[in-house]
Amino acid sequence: MQEELKQIRHEVLAKLKQVQTLDALESLRIQYFGRNGKLTTVMKGMGKLSKAERPIVGKLANQIRAEWSEAFEQTTQELHRQQQAQQLAEESVDITLPGRKPAYGKAHPVTQTLERITSIFTQMGFQVATGPEVETDYYNFDALNTPADHPARDLHDTFYLTDGYLLRTHTSPVQIRVMERQQPPVRIIVPGKAYRVDYDVSHTPMFHQVEGLLVDTHVTFSELKGILASFVWQMFGAETQTRFRPHFFPFTEPSAEVDISCTVCVGAGCRSCGGTGWIEILGAGAVDPEVFSAVGYDAEQVTGFAFGMGVERIANLQFRIPDIRTFYENDLRFLQQF
Ligand code: PHE
Repeated sequence: MQEELKQIRHEVLAKLKQVQTLDALESLRIQYFGRNGKLTTVMKGMGKLSKAERPIVGKLANQIRAEWSEAFEQTTQELHRQQQAQQLAEESVDITLPGRKPAYGKAHPVTQTLERITSIFTQMGFQVATGPEVETDYYNFDALNTPADHPARDLHDTFYLTDGYLLRTHTSPVQIRVMERQQPPVRIIVPGKAYRVDYDVSHTPMFHQVEGLLVDTHVTFSELKGILASFVWQMFGAETQTRFRPHFFPFTEPSAEVDISCTVCVGAGCRSCGGTGWIEILGAGAVDPEVFSAVGYDAEQVTGFAFGMGVERIANLQFRIPDIRTFYENDLRFLQQF
């Protein structure tokens, strides 16, 4: 029996050295020390031994168990350490890999231009006002001295909705809404959307305007010229020239269209300006007394001026876009250039 035990001891320690995993270690333990393990089975024969032999065998068995449990403990720890090291190696992050850049969003080019225009006028003391895009005939036309037979009311230009509503064709109705609720002095700009039935290289059905209105005592046309010239310089550079051309709007008298010297050919004449050297950027004029009476202002006491500009047109000049419709096709390859 002593020989058997010595054999077991030799065997189990040799096998322990070969164990590679915690699972294999556990089955080895069961194989020798479990309830039906080899050592346990041998020890069941203890009863047949002589009195003299019994304590010697018992001592030997205890030795084997003690040796085993120490070696078992060491191996367990070693395997744990190996397992952890392997896991760490597999999960390691290679910090030398190049990073992945997030795609940054930015303001749409038309929004950028709108914000730039707005900031130039707010620095000159204008306040931002807004109004509804769904309007009535009254605010869009009547109150702006636009009689029912005016071509601007033609079905081809205006998106009419049901119940007498329409999509505003310009930002000018906000002039009326502000003057109705506020006494002079008034000094506002109105950045916003407008709608017309129109679609070609220089028109989209929805577009943006910035309206301006200044009303006070003794406001003159030369102040209008000064403010617009200052705007043009800030927007397009001090070398840019401004030209006022006589025009007609129902709600201003006198009225003008304002041109700037072509930013592409600097006045020489090119395709962008149709060979004229000038590009129209806005409509303007002195507020018509009829408009003042529509809002209950005394046209004998106050004077004023108004202007309205197309934002896409100005963005076009700033960014040199040949077709205005590309602003609204949402092609990221186009939009990311700004
Ligand atoms: N509302 C005019 C348009 O859309 C522009 C304008 C505004 C002209 C204010 C004069 C004064 O064409």
